[in-house]
Amino acid sequence: MIRKECGKSGAAGLMTEILQDGKLEIENQAALDVERVLISENEIVERVGELARMIEADYKNSGNKLVLLGILKGSVVFMAELMKQIRLPVEIDFMKVSSYGGGTTSTGNVEIKLDIRRRDIETSDILIVEDIIDSGRTLSYLVDYLKLRGAASVRTVTLLDKPSRRTVDFEPDYRGFEIPDEFVVGYGLDFDEKYRALPFVGVLKHKVYEK
Ligand code: IMP
Ligand code: MG
Repeated sequence: MIRKECGKSGAAGLMTEILQDGKLEIENQAALDVERVLISENEIVERVGELARMIEADYKNSGNKLVLLGILKGSVVFMAELMKQIRLPVEIDFMKVSSYGGGTTSTGNVEIKLDIRRRDIETSDILIVEDIIDSGRTLSYLVDYLKLRGAASVRTVTLLDKPSRRTVDFEPDYRGFEIPDEFVVGYGLDFDEKYRALPFVGVLKHKVYEK
């Protein structure tokens, strides 16, 4: 554990927490925009291991190809950890959809920006990998879409879930962490394309998106 004196402001506590993970210096501007660390990198890696064990148990006798379908761009860090930890042959694919624009609330529409291209979709078990479920619109739309495309099976795994924000009835098959209704960044999640590279999930300071 690394500790560093950072002065007496609120940032000092934050930096102590971050430095416990040994990853960031106080000079990192992205980390300074974070109010507090919600989930550390170690906690995420451990939880992803648990998810991987559940996924292995559910798919090991399937007979189909297991395809992890990452939803760009927020899922990439979680997806990389998950594919390393699943001890089954997996293929990967990506789709890009947009429902959010530049703000912190959903526009309500789901638009496909990059589609999945597979000839073997009928013999593929598609596991959609998402960073976070908020209203639930993105994933409920995508599950229906991939079933219509004829996938052998469609399930969902999300790193984070904000159940209190649902506007459509949707439950993921696998979830990493339930979190409160706060805007979070890091571990792939962005605000306006920033903060994705932070190695933890943190609550963004309100002043960042209120200015
Ligand atoms: P849904 O369709 O409302 O469930 O939206 C899910 C998408 O909204 C995610 O893939 C994220 O891109 C985005 N999103 C929702 N909440 C957050 C957040 O707290 N931080 C960053 N992105 C978020
Ligand atoms: Mg996103």
